[in-house]
Amino acid sequence: MESKGPETTTVKPAPEVTPAQDTGYLQWFIDELTGSPINIILLIAILYLLYKILRPESEDDLPAYEPPPPPMKKQDFTHAQLREYDGVKREDGRVLMGVLGKVFDVTKSKNFYGPGGPYAAFAGRDASRGLATFNVNLAAEDHDDLSDLKQSELDQVREWYEQFSEKYPIVGKLLGPDETATVYTDDEEDVDENKVQEENKAISGTS
Ligand code: HEM
Repeated sequence: MESKGPETTTVKPAPEVTPAQDTGYLQWFIDELTGSPINIILLIAILYLLYKILRPESEDDLPAYEPPPPPMKKQDFTHAQLREYDGVKREDGRVLMGVLGKVFDVTKSKNFYGPGGPYAAFAGRDASRGLATFNVNLAAEDHDDLSDLKQSELDQVREWYEQFSEKYPIVGKLLGPDETATVYTDDEEDVDENKVQEENKAISGTS
């Protein structure tokens, strides 16, 4: 028997792609891409997405910068006065929110409380009940003593209050039905209006 020597494998050189073949592939590729309406639509979509991703951000895409209104003078509010500050009624766009008898200036978070925001219902209102019960629709337009709330709900609204105290300035009190507005001096000291009147009477001798 004739023994075969070790098999030799000859590596064939890769067939050279001639320029003519090259344009042939390209033509085939273009034909594939543009061959059916679905491919054309997909191609346009891909090009559009690439354009959106790669295009440098222009100024038109950024939301217009709205400078925040200056800090408010310390003052107390009746519920009716508070309702003016819903971010829409007043020209300055100020947004105030009542929580546990205090009024917070939440203008800097207009994205939450301004028109169209998820918590816009709290703007210009007493949000205590809504915060206590996790129900945005329970913001009160008038005095709410929260006396029917459970302890856990009261704890919940107190937690919110603490959180807001660290984030937003307190402008003043949200007045209950029998409360009168405090007169605040420029150095932000609380001055009870009744006391001021009494002192004034005492000074002028008309008691
Ligand atoms: C599916 C339900 C909810 C989701 C996913 C959600 C999510 C969020 C997120 C992501 C924030 C932003 C937090 C931050 O950036 O500081 C936020 C803020 C807030 N959420 Fe919700 N929320 C939901 C429901 C509620 C409900 C029912 C209430 C009602 C009390 C509520 C009250 C608030 C308030 C008041 C803020 C703003 C806090 C601030 O001024 O710093 N949320 N929420």
